[in-house]
Amino acid sequence: MLVEPNYPLQAHNSFGISAKALQLVRVQTEADVQAVVADAALRDQPKFVLGGGSNIVLTGDVKPLVLKVELKGMRLVEETDKAWVVESAAGESWHDLVRWTLENGWPGLENMALIPGSVGASPVQNIGAYGVELQDRFHSLDAVDLTTGQAFSLDAAQCAFGYRDSVFKHVSSGRDGERRGFGLAGKTLITRVRFLLRKDWKPVLGYLDLERKMTETGISHPTALQIFDWVCAIRRAKLPDPAVIGNAGSFFKNPTVTQDQCDDIIAREPKVVHYLLDDGRIKLAAGWLIDACGWKGKTVGNAGVYEKQALVLVNVGGRENPCTGGEVVTLAKAIQTSVYERFGIRLEPEPVVV
Ligand code: EPU
Repeated sequence: MLVEPNYPLQAHNSFGISAKALQLVRVQTEADVQAVVADAALRDQPKFVLGGGSNIVLTGDVKPLVLKVELKGMRLVEETDKAWVVESAAGESWHDLVRWTLENGWPGLENMALIPGSVGASPVQNIGAYGVELQDRFHSLDAVDLTTGQAFSLDAAQCAFGYRDSVFKHVSSGRDGERRGFGLAGKTLITRVRFLLRKDWKPVLGYLDLERKMTETGISHPTALQIFDWVCAIRRAKLPDPAVIGNAGSFFKNPTVTQDQCDDIIAREPKVVHYLLDDGRIKLAAGWLIDACGWKGKTVGNAGVYEKQALVLVNVGGRENPCTGGEVVTLAKAIQTSVYERFGIRLEPEPVVV
């Protein structure tokens, strides 16, 4: 095991922020994790697991020991009458996995095409797009406990998935073994994720953007590959490619409010974009709220609000003159304040500020 000092992270976070890991270990096999846990000098140090770096804001050099996940491999582990179960190592790119499953004729992940980041990070925030979330296709995952080195597996219920949320985002607050406040943040490294792709696949086409594609093309029964192509085209048209303009996808979660709160907002802002959820609450489009406050194109230093989608904060300085994490955080706070002052809604950030 090699501990690399002062490892540059600019190419390993999708914002393109310039920062270093004071100490970094590449995890290419499970044995690399065991070696870290067995090492007297490293065992008790705080650790930070780095996947694709597509959901983080680095506000300075990273002091915890960075474990850079480079585990590779994808395979079909099981086929039954009803489904295929595919497994991917955590270090694979999410989009490569989506493409590989479709090339093999196993549909189900197509609505989540082109989401940046690694497979290992996908359950952490229960990624989702165009009507499908990871939890809808999840089978199970394997992980290693970073304090004991023990490997374990979790099913969907144990991952406690929520909207852009899971057990991996929460810090445990209870005593050992207590279920209340149970969380695995900072304590686990996900090594492999398995997906259940059903043979009775049906397209998920409820999103307006996909309905538009059906009208445009005249295709009313698209294949999974056609949906994959549509989702790629939609995302390319409205979301910045992190390889060109640094960003971390949606910067805030879409907030939910009660019907009463929504009625109150509609009375003042009749155009507010909102959707009724199954539980009777209403989801508001955070991008619309931010846009309505006039933020599109505004900047703080080299951090800016993307012109085509106000929910996305971008690095306008590029690789040469990148924004700092502090600028991103300042911009995010200013947006939160103005949305709160106008709508009384507190926006919650999606990325992890490191
Ligand atoms: N809108 C505006 N102005 C804006 C941005 C959006 O008026 O600047 C309006 C749009 O016109 C639309 C509505 O807000 O009516 C919703 O916008 P969009 O369809 O782009 O989706 P979103 O709610 O902003 C969510 C996810 C995305 C995901 C898309 C498609 C969250 C936080 N974001 O965005 O996920 O790709 O739906 O399913 O749930 C991500 O999480 O990083 C991400 C990109």
